[in-house]
Amino acid sequence: MKERLEAIRNACFAKLEQVESMDLLQEIRVEFLGKKGALTEVLKSMKDVAPEDRPKVGALVNDARAAIEAKLDEVKEALAAKQQEAKLANETIDVTLPAKRMTEGHRHVNNIALAEVERFFVGMGYEIVDGPEVEEDYYNFEALNIPANHPAKDEQDTFYVGGDILLRTQTSSVQARIMEKGKLPLRILSPGRVYRADEVDATHSPCFHQVEGLVVDDNITFADLKGTLAEFAKEMFGAETKVKFRPHHFPFTEPSAEMDVSCFKCGGKGCRFCKGSGWIEILGCGMVHPRVLTMSGIDPEKYTGFAFGVGLERIALLKYEIDDLRLLYENDLRFLKQF
Ligand code: DAH
Repeated sequence: MKERLEAIRNACFAKLEQVESMDLLQEIRVEFLGKKGALTEVLKSMKDVAPEDRPKVGALVNDARAAIEAKLDEVKEALAAKQQEAKLANETIDVTLPAKRMTEGHRHVNNIALAEVERFFVGMGYEIVDGPEVEEDYYNFEALNIPANHPAKDEQDTFYVGGDILLRTQTSSVQARIMEKGKLPLRILSPGRVYRADEVDATHSPCFHQVEGLVVDDNITFADLKGTLAEFAKEMFGAETKVKFRPHHFPFTEPSAEMDVSCFKCGGKGCRFCKGSGWIEILGCGMVHPRVLTMSGIDPEKYTGFAFGVGLERIALLKYEIDDLRLLYENDLRFLKQF
């Protein structure tokens, strides 16, 4: 019996010499100490041992088990230490290597222009509001006094999502949404994306940005509109900038106008930039049409308002003297880095 135990112990120790992984170590533990392991087999054969010899043999088996367990623990510890060492060696950081270069991004030209527009109007007490880009026909057209067969609807051909749902063609769609909430006075600015079924060229894109402004209060007059937008033009294009209002037509304002700014390149003398006219068209505006107020539940006898809509890209292109709208969307870093 003593020899048998000795043989088991030696076999186990021999195997442990070669162990390289924790998994293998566990296998060996099971092979020798497990329920069906070599030592358990020996214990099972105790019934064949003479009763008087049993305590002695039992002690021998226990000794062998203790020795094997001690050895297993020892090897396990050594293996863990070795693995930790290898891991540390692997993860060594070479502090002498050159650092990875950080590329820092910055705002897109559109956003730089938008931040400037917002700063001006927030300073004038306007609140920035958001509206949905996927819009109901009602808010994009109907509530703005553009009924189903109005020609203005043709000019703003767009993408229909289905039924009466479409991608908004103008940020003017937020006007009714805000007015019908019933809180007055109103002084809001609403920037965002708009969509039109236009071919891409140097001045058109099927998706672009507008900034809508709306003021409703008592005693708002065209003088308020002119004063506000003249200040805005100076802020954006320089203190010398003059403005000119040309009569125009928008279904949702009456009277309506387009505002031109004096060319900031030539000061109004006429140059290549302003195509010789000295003026550059910049936005649409007007006094909110009484029908538009009424439809949104505001009494036009008590309240009046003005509104305006600016193309954000137009501002960005002019301010930074970019001559092709497509450059704004191509995401060529060599272009974008210049601003
Ligand atoms: N929504 C108009 C457009 O897309 C721009 C505009 C004109 C907005 C006059 C207004 C406005 O608020 O009063 O062409």
